[in-house]
Formats: sequence, C-alpha cells, structure tokens
Amino acid sequence: MKTSLSEMLGVEHSIIMAPMFLVTNVEMMIGALDNGITAAIPALNFRTDDDMRSALNEIKAHTSKPFGVNLIVNKSNIKLKKQLQTCLDLEVAFIITSLGNPEEIINKCKPKGIKVFCDVVDLNYAKKVEASGADAVIAVNSEAGGHSGNLAQSELIPKLNSELNIPVISAGGISCKGDIDKAFELGAQGVSVGTIFIASDEAGVSEDYKNALVDYSANDIIMTSHISGTPLTVINTPYVKSLKSNNGWIKRKLLNNKKLKKITKLIIMSKGMNSLKKAATKPTYKTVWVAGPSIENITKINSVTDIIKSLT
Ligand SMILES: Cc1cc2nc3c(=O)[nH]c(=O)nc-3n(C[C@H](O)[C@H](O)[C@H](O)COP(=O)(O)O)c2cc1C
Repeated sequence: MKTSLSEMLGVEHSIIMAPMFLVTNVEMMIGALDNGITAAIPALNFRTDDDMRSALNEIKAHTSKPFGVNLIVNKSNIKLKKQLQTCLDLEVAFIITSLGNPEEIINKCKPKGIKVFCDVVDLNYAKKVEASGADAVIAVNSEAGGHSGNLAQSELIPKLNSELNIPVISAGGISCKGDIDKAFELGAQGVSVGTIFIASDEAGVSEDYKNALVDYSANDIIMTSHISGTPLTVINTPYVKSLKSNNGWIKRKLLNNKKLKKITKLIIMSKGMNSLKKAATKPTYKTVWVAGPSIENITKINSVTDIIKSLT
C-alpha cells in the first residue's frame, strides 16, 4: 500500500485511523501506529491544553511513528489558538482541518514541516485549500460517519483527482481491504477510516455504544440535525426516533429570529455535544450514537490490531 501519502508520512500503509470526537484516545492511537498505519486524534477530545499535551507526549514516548491532530478551524472553536500552538510545539506530523478556512493553520505549519490535510466535500472547496497550500485533501463522501458529504466516492475521487495536484485521501464507507482497493482504483492515494474503529477494545466509549455497532446495520443509519444543529449520521435508536417526532416549534421560532439566531445555534450545539458525550460514555436511555453505514460489516468488537489486519 505504498502511495504518495505513505511516502509523505513515512508509514507502511496509506491508511489513517480517522479522528473521532469522543471516541479516539491514546490507546487507539498507539494501536494504529504500532500496526503500520497512521492516526489522528481530535483536539476537541481534551478538556484542557495540559491534557492534550500530556496525551500527545504519551504517544511520542511510546513511538516515533508519525501521527496527527484534528483541529476544528471555524469560529465555534474558541480553543483553536492554543490547540494549534501545542501541535506546533510538539511538532506532530500532520494536522487534519475541518469545518472552516485552513489558511492560517497552513501558514503556521509549513515552516515547521507539519503537513496539513483538509476535509473537503466538493471540488470548489478542494481547489481553494490546494491554492492555500494544503498538502492533501480528505475527500469526505456520502457514506462517511459524522458530518458526511453529498457525493458518492465513485464521483468525488475521480473528480478531485483529475483537477488537483495534491494527493486525495478517501473518507467514508471503508470497512475491509476490498473497499480500500476500490478507493485506490478510483485514484485515491490513501484512505481515512473511522466507524469500524469505534467497535474496538481500545475505544473510549461505553460497551452499549460498541454493541450497538454490532447489532444495528447500514439501514439504521440516518442523518439528523436534531442533535447539534448540523447534519450528523447517527444510529436510529428508539430515542433518536422520538427526537424526530419532537421537532420543537420554539426552536424553529428562535432560529428564525435575526437577533437570537446566533446564540440559539450555539446553545443547540453545546447541548448536542453534551448529549453526545453522555451517550458515548455512560449508560443512558438517551442513546445518540454517531456512526456511518459501514457498521454493516461489524460483527464483533475487535482489537485495533485485528481491525487493521482486516484492512491490510
Ligand atoms: C463517531 C464519529 C466521530 C467523528 N468525529 C470527527 C471529528 O471530531 N472531526 C472530524 O474531522 N471528523 C470526525 N468524524 C469523521 C471521521 O473523521 C471520518 O471522516 C469518517 O469516520 C469516515 O467515514 P467512516 O466512518 O465511514 O469510516 C467522526 C466520525 C465518527 C463516526
């Protein structure tokens, strides 16, 4: 699996264990790095800068293999400056940017030799980040878990590949080696794999969440904005079904009010993040579990090592 991505990073396989809010932890990162792939952890998973620094240092103490950090680069992330500084100080190998303009990140990382990969969902945006100096794009397709894109991999990868000069990494719907071969045939230089790693021994989420990935199937994945205000793929549990039918008129009214719209959005987002956090880590009837359709092929909870074996 040698491609321009594996060469750029110096890893055996051109596979990134994708950053996952509330899920990715140090144990998963080490599991990935020890097995020939690379991995990225969301800065958002750390409550404080000290927590982030000590986690990144723990990974570095274990291995010299290259790994990355995911930064949310829009205005909602008030901790961005500090998070970026920590990445620069500790010289992580790469940063994955999502949800905003990555220009400042790229400008600060370039002199340090830190690569910047930007999440994109279409050609327009991909061209913009390439012009800003991104080292690769992560093409998030319609099968991805989390904030998925609109285009199928079969359309997105060839389109980006023919128009860009930087590597295209495919994200979404990958759960076995055959899926990776398909992405490479379409022209991807690497893949970013999330959902199937949630059902790992190492993942920092509750057993209920992991078991749900085994028990539910692709047909049970829906896209909803009711949790955080932005469309998110979740398992359609009875609790999520109850949210659908309860599409609060008060919320709609506040969102239609010019003065209150911004603050309402922030409140919805913050409430959504809290409910996701509770559901991911504690037993609760409010079962909002983020996952993509690739749960279809999850039949048991495995070690990160065994999951990587099934991909390589
Ligand atoms: C539970 C979960 C949490 C995620 N959190 C983030 C995140 O914090 N930042 C980000 O850029 N992408 C996030 N993603 C998207 C993944 O990085 C990746 O693009 C996606 O998982 C790829 O699709 P797949 O799940 O089908 O493998 C998340 C995805 C999942 C399933």
